[in-house]
Amino acid sequence: MRTSFPERQDMTRDFKRILVTGALGQIGSELTAELRSRYGSDNVTASDIKTVKESPVMEGGPWTVLDVTDPVAVEEAVLRTKADAVFHMAAILSATGEQNPQLCWKVNMDGTINILEAARKQDLARVIIPSSIAAFGPETPRDSTPQETVLRPRTMYGVTKVSGELICDYYARKYGLDVRGLRYPGIISSETLPGGGTTDYAVDIYYKAVLEGRYTCFVREDTMLPMMYMPDCIKATLDLAEADFDSLVHHSDFNVGALSMTAGDIAASIRKHIPDFQVEYRPDYRQAIADTWPKSVNDSAARAEWGWEPDWDLDSMTADMLERLRSRLL
Ligand code: NAD
Ligand code: SER
Repeated sequence: MRTSFPERQDMTRDFKRILVTGALGQIGSELTAELRSRYGSDNVTASDIKTVKESPVMEGGPWTVLDVTDPVAVEEAVLRTKADAVFHMAAILSATGEQNPQLCWKVNMDGTINILEAARKQDLARVIIPSSIAAFGPETPRDSTPQETVLRPRTMYGVTKVSGELICDYYARKYGLDVRGLRYPGIISSETLPGGGTTDYAVDIYYKAVLEGRYTCFVREDTMLPMMYMPDCIKATLDLAEADFDSLVHHSDFNVGALSMTAGDIAASIRKHIPDFQVEYRPDYRQAIADTWPKSVNDSAARAEWGWEPDWDLDSMTADMLERLRSRLL
């Protein structure tokens, strides 16, 4: 059902100055670069709890250290940077989250509520907070997982993603805050390594193919999950962020599909370029997490409401990944 915001007339407000949290992470690092090229380097402040030497994110525009679990620091950063939008990428992902569920709850839930509260108090124009395919669980239909379906995840990360969707939609309805989010699938990219998720094998396999010609995969060969190449992830994030509010029925929980393949399919795609690439499959605790997630998602709501359409398939992604990694690592 469409959300009505009775107190606000100006539903689609422009934003000019952006704060990115978790900007040194896998998605944040490439998102920050694209935001700076679209909105101007001086208008996009990158932040993270850590620092990295010789980081283009830290050196390419305004930068601040920010722990999103600190509510005072979060509001102060919004005020100091004069942000009118926040892209909230700071999080603890699924595999790390199962090793330390309390930290996962603290960072993901305290971080989200601190961003929402700062956005509410400072009347921000837009907040982007990602969800994940981890919001689903073993009772969810796994093929073409519907937009509206059972949300009973088994991981702490998934619990925080469902709770995050619900609290974002609450702030949208209660306070008229324009908060939007996508249930990203596993993201595959060549610039920044992933930060402790179950889908990390789909990135690691490319690095190991280029560097060593062999890979030990921590899920079974037939493990099928939804995935997406980083350029499509950035496109989806910004297409949703920049969509007209009036066209949106959903807010924080858009399914977005792109690729759906097994670990074996990725290895076969790599072998088209590296014929003697060897993969051994030794499933660990992450297999049980993967087994509760969808194989593919139905993203008809995203397609209808803001025109989502992916550009990359498995083989075009593989060719691009291998070329980029070879030129950077060899
Ligand atoms: P990542 O782990 O690569 O990066 C997260 C960043 O958050 C890290 O740089 C980390 O230092 C930072 N961080 C951790 N604790 C923090 C704190 N207390 N304060 C500030 N920063 C802190 O994650 P990512 O893959 O870039 O994910 C970004 C968002 O997208 C997350 O919400 C994640 O759940 C979601 N997502 C990612 C994927 C994926 O495959 N990468 C898939 C689905 C959803
Ligand atoms: N890539 C993420 C993870 O595996 C999915 O949200 O945790």
